[in-house]
Amino acid sequence: MTEIEKKLPMSIKYLTDDLKNEFAGKKTQNGFTIDDVVRSGVENSDSSIGAYAADAESYQLFAPLFDKIIEEYHGYPKDGIHTSDLSTDKLLMDNLDPTDDIINSTRIRVGRNLASYAFAAAISLDDRQSVEKEVISALNDLTGELQGTYYSLEDMDEKTRLKLVADHFLFKKGDRFLESAGVNRDWPRGRGIFCTDNKRFLVWINEEDHLRIISMQNGGDILMVFKRLMNAINTLEKKLQFAYSGHLGNLSSCPTNLGTAMRASVHIKLPKLSKTPSFKDLCNDLKLSIRGIHGEHSESEGGVYDISNKQRLGVSENDVVYVLYNGIKRLIGEEAKL
Ligand code: ADP
Ligand code: ARG
Repeated sequence: MTEIEKKLPMSIKYLTDDLKNEFAGKKTQNGFTIDDVVRSGVENSDSSIGAYAADAESYQLFAPLFDKIIEEYHGYPKDGIHTSDLSTDKLLMDNLDPTDDIINSTRIRVGRNLASYAFAAAISLDDRQSVEKEVISALNDLTGELQGTYYSLEDMDEKTRLKLVADHFLFKKGDRFLESAGVNRDWPRGRGIFCTDNKRFLVWINEEDHLRIISMQNGGDILMVFKRLMNAINTLEKKLQFAYSGHLGNLSSCPTNLGTAMRASVHIKLPKLSKTPSFKDLCNDLKLSIRGIHGEHSESEGGVYDISNKQRLGVSENDVVYVLYNGIKRLIGEEAKL
């Protein structure tokens, strides 16, 4: 394979002429065709994946394409069975930074979609608003540390919105990748954020997935953040029916978010290690992704990085949190040696 071929979005790289013929004329019940699936990759040639699903059926109808992408991204076989482990009683984890010197904050999120609606790329305005209503109703029943308030994006003034984004609580309008996929339609209608007063528990409604359920706080207490999130998922699962398959786990708009749909991250200061030529390879070996501090496709500021698990499918929620914990322990050790 040449260098140029390697840089193609996976959706383009794996969509052979044979597959194009096989998929010709196929449409999911929400009207999604193969051209719709790969549009973001075609219009944005710097995509790494470049494919979105509009419903559970997209993953079945176009499985020969998604299988390849999923195998390359998650290292997950096409006959794999995904298992979930939301328990918290077996976990043994110290706070990796008890004096709060190195880890600024910890955040763990999962994506979820309601089983009875199209995903963001194909959902109608009416249905998006119904999703919003159903989710708010479930969230309003939460109690204790999960009790909060819903803020609609339609009613929010610009100053408040920008501050919530800058403080890492709220999503921005979808980028050009999501724009091409159709996810930004009718912006900002039907979107909003639910959060507790202390902003340690938040739910984004109708961003890239119907729900992004988030637990976060300052410092490096990964276990506390994880426990809060597991409590929220267990409670919400009793009220909402999420799209799930035995093979792919929780179903998401983007194939990178299948399975646990979990991204567990810390914002961590690694001023010396991040300047070494082996930083990226080390993170890769530890199965960690590197982002900047304003989320995906942003840059680092002042040697602070967003480090998170790369694999989300074929591993349990417990596995994911250990990948983060063990990886961060190692990075802190390497930084200290320099
Ligand atoms: P997602 O996590 O849903 O994939 P992004 O990467 O865009 O989406 O991150 C969403 C927001 O969460 C951004 O503002 C990002 O800076 C913030 N964020 C991510 N991880 C952390 C963290 N560990 N501490 C504080 N904020 C974080
Ligand atoms: N579609 C973009 C790409 O392929 C982003 C993929 C992962 N990120 C996401 N938010 N789903 O590069």
